Amino acid sequence: MLGAELRVLGQLLKGLPTSGTHAERLESFYGPQATRYDAFRERLLHGRQALVEKLNLAPGERVIELGAGTGRTAEYYAERIPTLSSLTLVDLCPALLAQARRRAQHWPNTQVIEADVTHYRPHELMDKAYFSYALTMIPEWFLAIDNAIALLRPGGILGVVDFYVSRAHPAAGLRRHAAWQRALWPAWFGHDGVNLSADHLPYLRARLETLYLDEQLASVPYLPGLKVPYYLFLGRKPN
Ligand SMILES: C[S@@+](CC[C@H](N)C(=O)[O-])C[C@H]1O[C@@H](n2cnc3c(N)ncnc32)[C@H](O)[C@@H]1O
Repeated sequence: MLGAELRVLGQLLKGLPTSGTHAERLESFYGPQATRYDAFRERLLHGRQALVEKLNLAPGERVIELGAGTGRTAEYYAERIPTLSSLTLVDLCPALLAQARRRAQHWPNTQVIEADVTHYRPHELMDKAYFSYALTMIPEWFLAIDNAIALLRPGGILGVVDFYVSRAHPAAGLRRHAAWQRALWPAWFGHDGVNLSADHLPYLRARLETLYLDEQLASVPYLPGLKVPYYLFLGRKPN
């Protein structure tokens, strides 16, 4: 248990490699920690269960997770999966997808796909799509959002939960983070290729009709007393 924790920490301290393609860098970062990924992220990736509850997945819906990793987030609604028309889990990292395939062998109607979510398109339009802590790891995040919207049917729903920082001057009604928060968190997570941006949320709000937005703070393992900002967003694709 302790050994597994130390190996994940070691990988996080090494950080995301700086050379190779995006897919190669992901594989070399996640490969050594793939089997221990879930346990460590339980304490880091807050709001995933809340996101799937808000998505309120209904029988007969076509659902896609973009940047699904090990498929852990889908497990929060495992009892609903047999009622869905289809569930598609897409990721670019074979090591994490191997964990997702192991999980999904018990789930009907589920496909696990290795692809880049900035351009992957399923054969049918989806009712609901979501990113769970994936946008911050996608350099071309704006293409990923554009693609997610394109693969939804008109009126379809996109959900996102992720870390972020606010703008220095956010839009009315949105939280403003202090200058030290806006400096600390992107620097802290950037080492692991996690890009905490002030632009993701404004772009989502510009492209979609906002149905729900919750801006929160969460604890971070090994950083007592400090809280990282994250948001939960639900938006509707215009008809
Ligand atoms: C922090 S993990 C989150 C995984 C999962 N959604 C969860 O909540 O546990 C970020 C994921 O995004 C994936 N990813 C990054 N860039 C991607 C891309 N361009 N296409 C598909 N997946 C990508 C990574 O491989 C990784 O699995």
